[in-house]
Amino acid sequence: MDKILVKESNKLFGEVNISGSKNASLPILAACLLTDEKCVLSGIPLLSDCLAMKVILERFGAKVIINPLRDTITILPSEAAFTNDIPFELANGIRASFLVMGAALARWGRAALPMPGGCNIGLRPLDLHLKGFVALGANVDTMHGQIMATAQYLMGDKIYLDFPSVGATENIMMAASLATGVTIIENAATEPEIVDLANFLNAMGANIRGAGTNTVKITGDKKLNGANYTVMPDRIEAGTLMAAVAMRGGKVFLRGINAEHLKPVIAKLREMSVEVMEDAQGIWVSSNGYEGLLPTEIKTMPHPGFPTDLQAPFTSILSLTRGNSLVCETVFENRFMHVPELMKMGADIKIASRTALIEGVPHLSGARVVATDLRAGAALVIAGLCARGVTEVDNVYHIDRGYYKLEEKLQSLGAEIMRVRGERQEDVVV
Ligand code: UD1
Repeated sequence: MDKILVKESNKLFGEVNISGSKNASLPILAACLLTDEKCVLSGIPLLSDCLAMKVILERFGAKVIINPLRDTITILPSEAAFTNDIPFELANGIRASFLVMGAALARWGRAALPMPGGCNIGLRPLDLHLKGFVALGANVDTMHGQIMATAQYLMGDKIYLDFPSVGATENIMMAASLATGVTIIENAATEPEIVDLANFLNAMGANIRGAGTNTVKITGDKKLNGANYTVMPDRIEAGTLMAAVAMRGGKVFLRGINAEHLKPVIAKLREMSVEVMEDAQGIWVSSNGYEGLLPTEIKTMPHPGFPTDLQAPFTSILSLTRGNSLVCETVFENRFMHVPELMKMGADIKIASRTALIEGVPHLSGARVVATDLRAGAALVIAGLCARGVTEVDNVYHIDRGYYKLEEKLQSLGAEIMRVRGERQEDVVV
């Protein structure tokens, strides 16, 4: 497996283009199964998770053509049909595989998928997705590790989500787009990726109102058409790079990011005395580095709260920030796996239940650490930029699931980082 080696680096300077959002791309790719017409998507990052979703669409019989020169993916779903033959390894590789469930159920009246996997950051049940399908009239069953849903027809209904789950909101929006009548999702997730999916579905002819608020209204239709669409920029990639600049110091322009998507992150960085300037093309971040940062308290929350996906990178920053900081993780129950790895580098962090008490140390030292999940991996890379000596990050495939060319982007800003190719990891393609 590949490793990433990071050396204590100089301050970061320059400009970086923010890639298309992974978390918007995955549901949007799944939504292409709702039509039999051509869809052309721009800006989809060619990450292993997106490539796995491509293979899933192909398993349904859709033709998927990547055109890297034009930065487009064309999906031709006219031949797509129901299948219950999605391999376990594929579904287990990404949790977002389950996002094809709503689209398949709506289009063919039945859907079957192995239980999904993904980052091991908590129990991550699917009850809210299934509650939504049942409310729309589906029967749901689990057998031999597969989840099956069937419905003669889907009928709109009012669905209250006990938690504003991103995936459940997306799955229900997709299924409801082809249901009869009106569906109202209450306590829906409000993440920008929900708005992006709704915009794509509306471009396909769906009628979705209220995306981005807690109440989403979907008026179903019999058929959706194909569409051309550009996915939103990746706010988590941008937030991770902002964390790198905040911690290491320097001045960087993040081109293409929408500051509106990063309000809680920008507010927290400013509180820590990082300078952030917004303009129409992107965001400037400048910082004197960890020596000048102030400690803080962070509580992860569903949007518009502080995103759980940026908790790990910010924990890295706070481990070198003078004084005591608190980080409370309320979204996932097992999302502190980067902490023991940061402690190998000299961080002083105590965990009590869902809260990390961080006592800033004067320096970190490079060590051999393991990327235990996607965002944890990025957090270790950032810490490595500020740690004395060399940090070796193993299990880089986690990072490759969600960060497009992370080491190249950091290199272009002056970071001393390289990838050491190991034995080629099995492709996600099965
Ligand atoms: C999505 C993001 C992920 C992000 C997360 C929260 C994608 C591909 N992934 O994941 O990067 O960290 O949102 O912002 O977009 N839950 C239930 N029952 C359910 C579904 C979820 O209890 O049926 C719980 C989960 O266990 C978790 C919380 O709800 O504790 C949030 O999960 P959810 O919003 O669904 O996250 P994902 O869609 O899996």
